[in-house]
Amino acid sequence: PGPDGVRHYELTLQAGETEILPGKQTPTWGFNGPFLGPTLRAARGDRVRMSIRNTLGEASTVHWHGLRLPAAMDGGPHRPVDPGAEWTPEWEIDQPAATAWYHPHPHGKTSLHLYHGLAGVFVIDDGPDAGLPSEYGVDDVPLILQDKMFAEDGSFSGDPLKGPFGILGDHVLVNGVYDPGFAVLTERVRFRVLNASNARMYTLELSDRRHFQVVGNDRGLLGTPAEVDQVPLTPGERVEIVVAFTPGEQVVLRTVDNGLDIGKGDFDLLRLVTASELRPTPAPGEQIVPFTAITPAADARVRHFTLNARDSINGRTMDMARIDEVVPTGAVEIWEVENSASSHNFHIHEVSFQILDVAGTPPPAHSAGYKDTVFVPTRSTVRLAVQFGRYADPGAPYMYHCHLLRHEDAGMMGQFVIV
Ligand code: C2O
Ligand code: CU
Ligand code: CU
Repeated sequence: PGPDGVRHYELTLQAGETEILPGKQTPTWGFNGPFLGPTLRAARGDRVRMSIRNTLGEASTVHWHGLRLPAAMDGGPHRPVDPGAEWTPEWEIDQPAATAWYHPHPHGKTSLHLYHGLAGVFVIDDGPDAGLPSEYGVDDVPLILQDKMFAEDGSFSGDPLKGPFGILGDHVLVNGVYDPGFAVLTERVRFRVLNASNARMYTLELSDRRHFQVVGNDRGLLGTPAEVDQVPLTPGERVEIVVAFTPGEQVVLRTVDNGLDIGKGDFDLLRLVTASELRPTPAPGEQIVPFTAITPAADARVRHFTLNARDSINGRTMDMARIDEVVPTGAVEIWEVENSASSHNFHIHEVSFQILDVAGTPPPAHSAGYKDTVFVPTRSTVRLAVQFGRYADPGAPYMYHCHLLRHEDAGMMGQFVIV
């Protein structure tokens, strides 16, 4: 923090080149560098100020996905930062520890700006580290998953606005790296996995199908670790996992085909090579953090959203001038999201929610925590208990939308205000 008690961050959107495939230069976009962005970190109670500068040849925005903040700071399509301009949002971090992220949100162009590489992780801390591995880059490692297609000359190819889903790439990059490896030095590693892909859904597993623990969802840590051998991750979602290793082994983090149109194909994501001696790391405790469920009152307001074919929600496409929903500050509501066709998920800005049920069935333990993005299976309804924040502003909307970016850009998005 500076003398004014405010933590100051600078992010410059810029174009550059990155050697992703050996010997080829890929034109890429990034924050403070040619590709992707730095991991930002702040703790609950911090006051943060972001200086956003845009050196691209076109307007963009920076949205804080997973952050609770006033709508005027949210960086949605109403906050374009023109080339050469600067934007300095400021707010107080007031939410539990979580793995959030940031990315552009320009109206109709989010898919393109993300595909070029504008994305970064934003880690929120809240008090002590809850007994989880927390040495950044050693046993606490963010993994940004993005699938790409490459042209002969190394540039990204494919049209993120074409076809039913836009880009479904045939290479998966992790933190911008093609065919990456990680040297494991500790008995356990916590991976904060972010799906920053345009449309691809992952089903994560270890190559020997060993079990691992899910310790956090999008918006915070779980009360108790959930043991799994696979975990799904759709665009915009984050999952924190803890994997245990033995000395001198090799195992691969990979994604496997889940039979869905957006989850086709098996891909190796990260080769994990462990040292011959591993530093001891305690196992996550039975309780990670005290967890309070989001509990709607018996007479809670219920809103229904149908994700239609033709990129609309409740039969309407995004209109920047139309407010679709008005929500009182601090409300706890039930949002029912119904998918009438195709593959979609659903993200709500600002809020934290818990899944009540998917097609009538309560969610598995690994997705029962605080979230802001959820997969909505075809021809089913997901019911969410949604906790809204305390920042009223009738003039500045937040968004909700499908996070398959082609759908979002085509108008599968609506706006709400908190009053
Ligand atoms: Cu990840 Cu509306 O955003
Ligand atoms: Cu968001
Ligand atoms: Cu969609």
